[in-house]
Amino acid sequence: MTFKKVDVHARSSSTSAASQDKNATFPLDTVDPMGEVTSINVARPRVLEFFAGIGLARMGLESAGFRVAWANDFEADKKAMYEAQFAEDPEHTFSLGDIARTKVSELPKDASLAWASSPCTDLSLAGARAGFAGAQSGTFWHFIQLLTDLGKNRPDVVVLENVTGLASSHGGDDLTAAIRAFNQLGYSIDVLALDARRFLPQSRPRLFLVGAQNPPTDNPDPNSELRPDWLQWVYGDKSLRTHRAALPTPPKPKTEGLGELIEDMPLSDERWWDESRTTAFIGSLSPTQRDRVMRLRRTSGVKYRTAYRRTRKGTAVWEVRPDDVSGCLRTARGGSSKQAVVRLGNKRLQVRWMTPLEYARLMGAGDYNLDSARTNQALFGFGDAVAVPAVAWLAENYLMPLVKGDLVTLGAPVDEALNG
Ligand SMILES: C[S@@+](CC[C@H](N)C(=O)[O-])C[C@H]1O[C@@H](n2cnc3c(N)ncnc32)[C@H](O)[C@@H]1O
Repeated sequence: MTFKKVDVHARSSSTSAASQDKNATFPLDTVDPMGEVTSINVARPRVLEFFAGIGLARMGLESAGFRVAWANDFEADKKAMYEAQFAEDPEHTFSLGDIARTKVSELPKDASLAWASSPCTDLSLAGARAGFAGAQSGTFWHFIQLLTDLGKNRPDVVVLENVTGLASSHGGDDLTAAIRAFNQLGYSIDVLALDARRFLPQSRPRLFLVGAQNPPTDNPDPNSELRPDWLQWVYGDKSLRTHRAALPTPPKPKTEGLGELIEDMPLSDERWWDESRTTAFIGSLSPTQRDRVMRLRRTSGVKYRTAYRRTRKGTAVWEVRPDDVSGCLRTARGGSSKQAVVRLGNKRLQVRWMTPLEYARLMGAGDYNLDSARTNQALFGFGDAVAVPAVAWLAENYLMPLVKGDLVTLGAPVDEALNG
């Protein structure tokens, strides 16, 4: 039978790792040897995507073979970007609205995984640290309520993604409370620290709590790359139900690569700042920073650095990163945390704001559809998002094997076990 090809997938989604899971089936298009496009049913584990934003968790999960069936966020601007990126699909719902008002009746009941990138505002070091009692980060409890209401339809696996500040917020009490809440719903918890910098030239450390109804055997060999010393207290707290899955070691953090992701732009482009603005930029640098920047300016060849504005003693000053890696992209509220790009070398120094395409590339989403997004809408969306390759790594190495029940649980070195 021949079907007209319908793009039911995200632009960047992959059709790999399709498994014969008990969960939902849906059509995948394939081209037969005669060149005809046919539709076949292949099962991919279904996902609920909470706090979906612009859908970067979806991109990472679907590249590993998951299928996001339902997503929720309350910002219309983010929904607009999400819908421009992912083709319309009758098998997917984006529910726009406050999670506090989301009813369990609207959630698909056959999901294997629930992903939540809950707001970090009250947990990040930059914030006032109200923690999970804060108005924004407290939305986590609505996620827990919905999992509670799902009852026997609760997904086998859950992920909570947040800033690493969650581990120290209120002396660890917020993380303890989150683990306890998952424990009460039957999930054992593994806690991992993973920096997007292992995959991209952007420093973006994040915490991932992976909850499993059927956890793998605890691997007491602490994997210090993923579970550093500052997380070990979690596993020492015997009042919590935790496990440590045996995982491969992620790639080493990148020390270069920013320059390769910078958008090609002629020096005459009007986005480069004019002389007086550039002079003010240089004037706001500390003497050490100015020396470093001026030294680079004199070298031959072009180098790029990122800069961000911060307030010191009530005055806005610029700080330039010393390396070929971007600082953590953040939401561009009020322009104060927008990143700038500094181009140095051949006796020139030029500055401009970082573009939406550069934000997308630094989040591992270089092919994201930006056609209809306003600049601040895009910067806001990407600044809030999760880095695609960090999600993809976790999905391939942990979540998919966990859902399929074949996670490596050997005590032997994992890299060996996986290769052998
Ligand atoms: C850390 S971001 C997650 C971004 C997402 N993972 C992505 O890749 O774009 C948190 C998201 O939660 C959303 N949010 C905050 N409060 C909410 C609420 N009460 N109900 C629904 N969504 C909310 C924000 O709009 C934001 O997109």
